[in-house]
Amino acid sequence: MGRLIVVSNRVQPPDAAGAGATGGLAVALSAALREYSGLWFGWSGETVDAFTGHLSMRKVGGVTLALMDLDEHDVHEYYNGYANRTLWPLFHYRTDLVAYERSFDEGYARVNARFAESLLPLIEPDDLIWVQDYHLLPLARALRRRGARNPIGFFLHIPWPARQIFTTLPRHAELVEALFDYDLIGFQTADSLQAFADYVKESAGGEVLPGGIAMAFGKRARIGAFPIGIDVAEITEGLKSDRAKAEFERVRASLLGRKMILGVDRLDYSKGLEERFLAYEQYLEDHPEGREHVFLLQIATPTRDEVEAYQDIRGRLESLSGRINGAYADVDWVPVRYVNKTYRRDALTGIYRAAHVALVTPLRDGMNLVAKEYVAAQDPDDPGVLVLSEQAGAAEQMREALIVNPFNREAVAEAIRRGLAMPLAERKDRWQALFDGVSTDDVAAWRDSFVAALKNEATADQPLRASANAR
Ligand code: ADP
Ligand code: F6P
Repeated sequence: MGRLIVVSNRVQPPDAAGAGATGGLAVALSAALREYSGLWFGWSGETVDAFTGHLSMRKVGGVTLALMDLDEHDVHEYYNGYANRTLWPLFHYRTDLVAYERSFDEGYARVNARFAESLLPLIEPDDLIWVQDYHLLPLARALRRRGARNPIGFFLHIPWPARQIFTTLPRHAELVEALFDYDLIGFQTADSLQAFADYVKESAGGEVLPGGIAMAFGKRARIGAFPIGIDVAEITEGLKSDRAKAEFERVRASLLGRKMILGVDRLDYSKGLEERFLAYEQYLEDHPEGREHVFLLQIATPTRDEVEAYQDIRGRLESLSGRINGAYADVDWVPVRYVNKTYRRDALTGIYRAAHVALVTPLRDGMNLVAKEYVAAQDPDDPGVLVLSEQAGAAEQMREALIVNPFNREAVAEAIRRGLAMPLAERKDRWQALFDGVSTDDVAAWRDSFVAALKNEATADQPLRASANAR
């Protein structure tokens, strides 16, 4: 077998200095890329006046990166447009926020074609290609049209929505037909897999055979659920760092005997931050005895700030945190500490460990890695409690968390109360089961199971692919 080529919109190589500034996903992908002498291809994150197709190649930590710049139209129509104003809200069930604009479609197709054209000369016949996420749904089609015959797999990091939601997308069939140019299509959860299978059967007139072979549009693709995990060692090693220890001490010193509830998220409307603040307000209202003995630290990193819906949610959260603090704060107590900073990953582990309760309450989420990172960072002798939304993909695996409906303010308030009061023995039992799951189904297991399934397709279906490509 040849090399592994990973393609993603954003390329986040591990920090060359090993400082741990990037995530477990980058670390895991880099490990696989090193193993296969592979290549990671994607957007540099830079915007230029006019697209040139020039690739900047560099090696970081033993991994070869090939990066291209996009022009302003590309970023507007593809990244801020079709990816983040059409697909993202739609796939997160926010049809009220979805923008359909013809120029977004065109920009999305154009950038996928640009990815294909720039990548094609780098592909060798034996390479496996693994494409990541909703920015690049039609990339296999663009590559196949240009002659690529390699096995190509796709993994969707966000949810695949229910058929009734997905079919509101103009030209939805075109998008799914393009997906059938992949040999393997991976989803985060059984729920997303089922929603995709429903679409294939009910809307595309296709079928799904036992064992996960989907057939539609005169083509076949293997489909499966591959829940992503974290790099547990990255967190446990991170906890040993001076930075993590200092951060832990800094937070604990600031508690003054109080308990801390923690949220860590990108500042995204899918994360349910407003609903979380309101549930916490409800807790304060219902439990006067808890006031002044607890606070919420919400870390929310601004993201996609050129998209209006993100500017709106930011404004609403600022006023909501202000309102709660205005209503409840005292001279020596502030109920909400609302922080818009991005922390280094090792520092974040110290903050996770200092928290008594983590609120991970997205309204809809593909998986949610924060839930897993929080569990990995806990002290086995005195672990905190995870409150987890039933709408996060992680809830399919992390059943020992306190599972809540994030839209139900009273239920989340009650879970906060229960988490803060939970006896040590129950906290330990729940944590141990969660930690075992997070350790077994880690990011290496995710990566290896996907790559093995793709390799399997490569050896099983050479003749089928050759004939499909010839069409
Ligand atoms: P999403 O992919 O939608 O952002 P996840 O929870 O799956 O949601 O992943 C978020 C990742 O970003 C996690 O690895 C988390 O540690 C990291 N992250 C989120 N907020 C911050 C922050 N303020 N500082 C540092 N890392 C953060
Ligand atoms: O998990 C979904 C995802 O969109 C990833 O593909 C992406 O890397 C991450 O969230 C952050 O989003 P963005 O790249 O738009 O900042």
